[in-house]
Amino acid sequence: MLCELENIKALMSDKGLHINHYKETILKRKIHSRMKMNKIDSCDEYTKFLYNNEDEITALMRSFMINFTEFFRDNQTYAFFGNYILPAIIQKRGKKSIRLWSIGCSTGEEPYSLAMLVKDADEKIMASIVATDIDRIAIDAARLGEYEDRKIKNIKKQYLKFFDPVSDRYRVKKDIKVIVRFLHHDIFSERLYGYFDVVFCRNLLIYLSKAAQIKVIKKIYNSLNKGGFLILGKTEFLPKELSDKFILNSLEERVYSKN
Ligand SMILES: C[S@@+](CC[C@H](N)C(=O)[O-])C[C@H]1O[C@@H](n2cnc3c(N)ncnc32)[C@H](O)[C@@H]1O
Repeated sequence: MLCELENIKALMSDKGLHINHYKETILKRKIHSRMKMNKIDSCDEYTKFLYNNEDEITALMRSFMINFTEFFRDNQTYAFFGNYILPAIIQKRGKKSIRLWSIGCSTGEEPYSLAMLVKDADEKIMASIVATDIDRIAIDAARLGEYEDRKIKNIKKQYLKFFDPVSDRYRVKKDIKVIVRFLHHDIFSERLYGYFDVVFCRNLLIYLSKAAQIKVIKKIYNSLNKGGFLILGKTEFLPKELSDKFILNSLEERVYSKN
């Protein structure tokens, strides 16, 4: 399997898609599952099939990008953000503004939840959220901001006012949408978006190799204001190689601040 993985990596790289940042176990699992779906038994045959099939390249790439997300995922983390981080930033700044970056925002639930939380906490706070993801299809869905019933059924009542019902779906209201700027962006690209008070990078590092995790965290470090916060996913940790760059604020909520 290894040699085929190298061939597939090379093929994807020719297309400008760099999959070597992801954990090999995940890549192999996803390749096998795409082979199965296409009823192909040999890796050689699948590599040839990929060469001639742009749709399959997109499908394979999307299968590596695990898109699962939800509104107010890990509620306690949002509570920590609302109760401690948001007031700390406003107090330090001496003015009601905050700049956030949601990396790997998928279909938009995370940045929209943040926008709703900030707006609900204080109408007067000027929030601006940059929300990025490598998956163009996810970014298009995020921009649309329409969600099925099941997606909003666990949202606290106080936030339901930020949705409009449209036929069988719920659409995020304009005053929330204007807070969030969705951009197609690969975290491994050179492009950056200035400095942020808080960076949310949740449930992306788990899919990356150790070396890639370090690259991402270094980038985040350089994008944070002094004392700015980094929030990781509940099962993720700051690589120990970079532990001197951050102070741990909450292990439970995976909150760190720039040292
Ligand atoms: C599991 S989702 C996490 C969504 C959200 N942050 C959350 O915690 O609910 C991981 C997201 O990371 C995105 N992603 C994967 N590789 C990326 C990369 N190189 N640059 C930016 N986003 C990436 C995927 O497309 C996917 O939408």
